[in-house]
Amino acid sequence: MNTSTTIDELKSIVHASKAKGKRVGFVPTMGALHPGHASLIERAAQACEEVVVSIFVNPTQFNNRKDFETYPLMMDKDLEVAQEAGATVVFAPHVDELYGGDLAVAPVDYGPLTSSYEGQKRKGHFDGVVAVVRKLFSAVEADAAFFGEKDLQQLAVIRKLAEDEFIGLEIAGCPLIREPDGLAMSSRNVRLVGEFRQTALALHGWLNRINNQACKPSDIQTALRAIESEAAEMEGVELEYIDVVNGLSFEPLRDGPVGPDAFAIVAAQVGGVRLIDNCALACS
Ligand code: PAF
Repeated sequence: MNTSTTIDELKSIVHASKAKGKRVGFVPTMGALHPGHASLIERAAQACEEVVVSIFVNPTQFNNRKDFETYPLMMDKDLEVAQEAGATVVFAPHVDELYGGDLAVAPVDYGPLTSSYEGQKRKGHFDGVVAVVRKLFSAVEADAAFFGEKDLQQLAVIRKLAEDEFIGLEIAGCPLIREPDGLAMSSRNVRLVGEFRQTALALHGWLNRINNQACKPSDIQTALRAIESEAAEMEGVELEYIDVVNGLSFEPLRDGPVGPDAFAIVAAQVGGVRLIDNCALACS
């Protein structure tokens, strides 16, 4: 496995692969790799001969300084996980290599996609995500990029970015991976301490409750309000949002029948750790 910290070096590796007719896959990450990331890298390795994994904790997408400062860093372990899962190149640039000393990013307006839910709760977050992913896509010049469906709204934003600016780049959404007890895997889970690890299971439980009402849209609203009341009583839990949306546009679904793109989405702080989760709704 190659490792590179500069765009020039990365480009020479990728161009050499392309010259040999290899398909190039790209998995962008912020490190602290867990089995969810490994599954993205494995997917990329099944579809592509060259698999570039970027490891870069992007300062411009953190709306909360403490979250940035406490974001887990574990480069040695990450290199092992990436290699084991099938990465052929790890790109781990210094912040100046990508931003050239200027961390100002342009605002992005994709309508509700960037203004609602995550966009509303984390002001400027998608400006930073789009800025860094645009830089990474330009640096890597991949044929396909792999993103987890755990960050469902991010995936929809990236699809729009690629459609507008990176014609021909395939964006592959990959399934959310859960711990055996149902907690959605996230790099932030290592910060859930004591009883909060158990409390965090509430998010998955809430999504299941909503899914159980998928055949009766009017009951979904009742379930959402009941969950909001329950969450308000829970020690150490701050529910930011829970709703049912179209997973492509991120517009809320209110009364109509639940369609193929309907998702329940949730974000909550548990013991000071911000968690998100989602599940596709299926009426069965
Ligand atoms: O999903 C993430 O880890 C990040 O938002 C991404 C896409 C690597 C951009 O920094």
